[in-house]
Amino acid sequence: MPLNTKLPFGSKALIARLNAHAERLGQARPRALYDGSASRYDALSFVVGATDESQLLLDCSRQRLDTPALEDLFQLAHEAGMPAAIHRLVSGAEVNATERRAALHMALRDPAQAPLSAAGCDVRPLVATERARLRAYVQGVLSGAIVGATGVAFRDVIQIGIGGSDLGVVMALQALKGYAQQSLRVHCVSNVDAAQLTDLLKDLNPATTLVLVCSKTFTTQETLSNARLARAWLIRALGESAVPQHVAAVSVNQAAMNVFGVGPTARFAMWDWVGGRYSLWSAIGLGLELAIGSAHFEQLLAGAHAMDLHFQSAPLHQNAPVILGLVGVWNRNFMGCAAHAVLPYTDRLNRFPAYLQQLIMESNGKTTRTNGLPVEWDTEAVLFGEPGSNAQHSFFQMLHQGTAAVSLDFLLPAVSPVGAQASQQLAISHCLAQAEAFALGFELNDVRVRLSEQGLADAAVEQLAPHKVHPGHRPSTIIAFRELSPRTLGMLIALYEHATFVKSVLWDINPFDQWGVELGKQLADSLAPVVRGEQRLAADSGLQQLVDRLTAWDNNG
Ligand code: F6P
Repeated sequence: MPLNTKLPFGSKALIARLNAHAERLGQARPRALYDGSASRYDALSFVVGATDESQLLLDCSRQRLDTPALEDLFQLAHEAGMPAAIHRLVSGAEVNATERRAALHMALRDPAQAPLSAAGCDVRPLVATERARLRAYVQGVLSGAIVGATGVAFRDVIQIGIGGSDLGVVMALQALKGYAQQSLRVHCVSNVDAAQLTDLLKDLNPATTLVLVCSKTFTTQETLSNARLARAWLIRALGESAVPQHVAAVSVNQAAMNVFGVGPTARFAMWDWVGGRYSLWSAIGLGLELAIGSAHFEQLLAGAHAMDLHFQSAPLHQNAPVILGLVGVWNRNFMGCAAHAVLPYTDRLNRFPAYLQQLIMESNGKTTRTNGLPVEWDTEAVLFGEPGSNAQHSFFQMLHQGTAAVSLDFLLPAVSPVGAQASQQLAISHCLAQAEAFALGFELNDVRVRLSEQGLADAAVEQLAPHKVHPGHRPSTIIAFRELSPRTLGMLIALYEHATFVKSVLWDINPFDQWGVELGKQLADSLAPVVRGEQRLAADSGLQQLVDRLTAWDNNG
């Protein structure tokens, strides 16, 4: 069914051609399109990076695409002004117009010294100074030169933050577990209900624990609530004077850090020109840097920087983030995929889908164009995911045979992170088998033949065959790399950051604000006294009835 897609950019003729491609490819038989040929693979796979250790491969040959359709998508990127949009982003233009900010997360991983200004201020010296301070702090903690109030080295770090001040570190701690120092354990706490923190504190010794509060604003209720509980736990054991030695923090909010008692050498800067979900590269990554050491952390930065250089310099038709972004728009707007699944075939990336949920859905989950008018096209798909092995035994049934159209990314390392290569080879074969099955499907006639070969009578074949049909045409990209190292992880994250930006340009939305999270926060502030019983809503309020029921359960517990 043709969607007759509209988009903000692209001449009428181009959009008509893209719609015609979608109709033509929509009618293609899976086996005719995904012909398994080396020539299709060559035409639709792309490599970034020069050496085995630093390469990412995008195999798009199982997308419902062919060369003519892809060429017209590149034309769409040109007509949307992609090169100019990329230039505006990297040169510090005010790309986040609703907050009047640049988005210079790339500067955090760029060793260049040529001035780069945001709001009239050169960011280079700020970044370099903070990087040097972080390195020195990490070295101090790991060497035992920086110790707690009793003079004993730190054994545990509790990183407290949420959203962009949590998810990147959580994801990368798991991804780079094999690179962790043995002397220091880093734990992350985010949820406001205090269950994570309470469970954790039972096992920790305040004298050897560093509390690291990560909050760009230092006003986020979840983070402040947990931070106050952790601070009180430290004070109960060590006294108030221990706070400056046991608490570090990352924020733009100096005044709030003063009030909290963070010492001058244990506070690190953030800036308005770094968005929360783009902040792993900043001091917000301190928990990770403490876990894996500065050298590995800087390899992560170098990997992301390599992807930045590629994004800025590669022609559109070889530019991996541009291709991933165009494929995303193709699946969303021309193929009608309202959901997108990310499926890592390594357990090390088990929090990567959660990380991408914030990066992609907080960035591009918008309905308002940059000019303030409503969009007349679909924007971001719902993103979900799980390590592929687990997912095969849960929601893959729906992906293969359900009615919803879902596009897929498989993340596939060649080498086991734990030296279990035979097991990784199994993971690789599962991943490739699934990608093939999703693309090719299993047609009714083939099912019939298979069942007959198995000795079923004709009547039984007719009864069972429709249930075994797989329609195929589930579009997927395989993103493969040699092994999950700090460098390849940095490349992978930056690939998705830039692909998210590319889609935002094609949809004419601002990917750097997040006004949609504010309303709920404000309502939570006003409801907190009601839940505590300090205020009441109107007597006939249904919400008050619900609060009363919850309060009664609490009091009777
Ligand atoms: O919930 C939205 C959000 O503003 C995210 O964008 C951000 O990453 C997170 O909250 C945490 O904010 P902060 O670092 O200011 O505590």
